[in-house]
Amino acid sequence: PSNGLADGFGRVATDLRVSLTDRCNLRCTYCMPEEGLDWLAKPELLTDDELVRLVTVAVEQLGVTEIRFTGGEPLLRRGVVGIVARTAALTPRPEISITTNGIGLARQAEALKEAGLDRVNVSLDTVRPDRFEQLTRRDRLKDVLAGLDAAQRAGLTPVKVNAVLMRGVNDDQAPELLRFCLDHGYDLRFIEQMPLDAQHGWSRADMVTADEILELLADPFDLRPTDAAARGSAPAELFTVAGGPATVGIIASVTRPFCGDCDRVRLTADGQVRNCLFARTESDLRTALRAGADDLELAERWRAAMRGKLPGHGIDDPAFLQPARPMSAIGG
Ligand code: GTP
Ligand code: 5AD
Ligand code: SF4
Repeated sequence: PSNGLADGFGRVATDLRVSLTDRCNLRCTYCMPEEGLDWLAKPELLTDDELVRLVTVAVEQLGVTEIRFTGGEPLLRRGVVGIVARTAALTPRPEISITTNGIGLARQAEALKEAGLDRVNVSLDTVRPDRFEQLTRRDRLKDVLAGLDAAQRAGLTPVKVNAVLMRGVNDDQAPELLRFCLDHGYDLRFIEQMPLDAQHGWSRADMVTADEILELLADPFDLRPTDAAARGSAPAELFTVAGGPATVGIIASVTRPFCGDCDRVRLTADGQVRNCLFARTESDLRTALRAGADDLELAERWRAAMRGKLPGHGIDDPAFLQPARPMSAIGG
């Protein structure tokens, strides 16, 4: 809509990613240190009511049509089923999805489906138990696999699997992971690692690029690019596998940025709007909300936050600086 979340470069955000918590029950080495991070304190977090209020403003006033709940690990939030149900009751009803590490799905997939969740994206970087433990510092592969299965049986489909490849850690696992996903009917997407880790350990040389990923898969699989025009603002380039119906995706945020088509906006668990994953500034909605701002004022503050959105992530700029918040507190 003309009064939606437009930026200065002709893009309009219709896809809202809401972080429900910055906490996580895994410790992926590319994300956070073993000891965890300084978690947000309870009073800083939006309550369920506050969070649903802001989601309502986004849908009713700002033309947002897709809501994705993220983390940390969003299923750690106690009220997640209720939050999904209240989001599904909005008019027009948004599409609702969750990005999760999968551990809570075996227990919650059915209830989430019933509440109105449409689909899930599950992070899984390897299907070998020893590598999983090395990568996530937790012995929970079984829980993730059970979660994937539960999500599919509950109809939270298409089930997508997100995999970050780390050089020398799991890059040799790419074909095995694809085989596993093909066998189970999950849509696998490989993701280029981005400079968003809490430890600031990202280096371009260590990143497994989209070209390398395609090379790793080329030997066992016959991949063909799908019609690029169908991609729209989706982050993944899709390839069919051996002419079959299944696809594998590559999210090449670094080497093939898709910022020009970005339709995303983010809300952190403490009520800050981020107009970009890599934004260096945030806009505080929580303070206005708690001071009694009405929907129209909240919507106007949100629009103002979008006007400053930069054209791209700037990773290639020599002056690039990582955002102060790590990935786990933004939700990817
Ligand atoms: P779908 O709607 O299923 O395509 O979800 P998605 O791929 O947008 O979301 P998901 O949470 O599964 O994210 C997969 C990867 O894409 C993660 O590494 C995200 O950080 C990355 N990603 C999501 N949105 C953006 C974005 O706006 N910019 C960039 N550069 N990466 C993003
Ligand atoms: N770069 C790219 N993807 C990342 N993820 C976590 N950290 C990074 C990073 N630095 C992935 C997670 C999850 C998704 C939300 O983002 O594995 O699948
Ligand atoms: Fe948790 Fe996701 Fe970070 Fe892994 S990448 S530690 S699953 S927030």
